[in-house]
Amino acid sequence: MSLIHTIDKLEAWFGYKDRQNKTLGFVPTMGYLHEGHLSLIKAAKSENDLVVVSVFVNPTQFSPGEDLESYPRDIDRDYRLAYEAGADVVFNPETDEIYMPGSSTAVEVVGEFTKKLCGASRPTHFKGVTTVVNILFNIVKPDKAYFGQKDAQQAFIIKKMVRDLHMPVEVVICPIVRESDGLAMSSRNVYLSSEERKQATSLNKGLQKAEEYLKSGIAGCGSVEKLIEIIEGTIKSQNLGVIDYVQILDAETLGDIATIEPGKKALVAVAVKFGNTRLIDNRVLSIEKGI
Ligand code: PAJ
Repeated sequence: MSLIHTIDKLEAWFGYKDRQNKTLGFVPTMGYLHEGHLSLIKAAKSENDLVVVSVFVNPTQFSPGEDLESYPRDIDRDYRLAYEAGADVVFNPETDEIYMPGSSTAVEVVGEFTKKLCGASRPTHFKGVTTVVNILFNIVKPDKAYFGQKDAQQAFIIKKMVRDLHMPVEVVICPIVRESDGLAMSSRNVYLSSEERKQATSLNKGLQKAEEYLKSGIAGCGSVEKLIEIIEGTIKSQNLGVIDYVQILDAETLGDIATIEPGKKALVAVAVKFGNTRLIDNRVLSIEKGI
């Protein structure tokens, strides 16, 4: 297990490990690892000979006024946790190792689906994500790359980029890992006060109630308007969370829908601010045909 900060050293390590003859799984992260990240590392370990984890707080995906400076960092802890989960390398570059001095190139997936959900309140965010993921893919050259369903829109956009650009990597999306009370794990959960932390379970509770209502089979249970009302009602029943969005879209296209039709998958996604901390969560819901 190695902690590597430069591309030169990473390439030397690849030579040493004879990587041409091995499969390589890659887990890009911004660090401050938790069980969600570790589930991706474990999945990568189970499917590849070698696993590289990057820890890089990517400045281009933060807007001015967001938490770039305060984003939690602890590389020693990340290194240890990544090692325990099965990583072979933690790649932890400086910003100018990733963005060449004078760099003026970006990679952007365009389309209405990038402007919805998180794209509406963070208009430059996904351009920063796709640019850095591209750069990291070019450096690491993985066979498979692992992302979490927690960031459903990010996963959708990365899959679209890889497909549109014929990038030679397989994207694997892993399920959301939650705390025992249902809160989706996130590096940003450490920002929450104890009262905010308690109330933050309302995101998952709202999604849960929407799922129960949809599965109840009562007339009109697929109504997007009604399902949104249920989720918003759950979040607003407490006093600290301020809703950024609650949206239900076609999970295959991220197009708008008015009803969850039997046999079709819907992405039910929420973003809620607790003070300056913005939390997201989602669930993919469907009702079987014939119900
Ligand atoms: P970060 O927020 O550190 O997340 C790294 C990966 O872990 C992402 O694919 C994310 O979806 C996944 N992840 C986070 N929380 C999870 C959870 N509770 N369960 C399952 N997976 C979870 O996402 C980023 O970093 C960045 O945008 C990045 C892709 C690294 C580009 O900078």
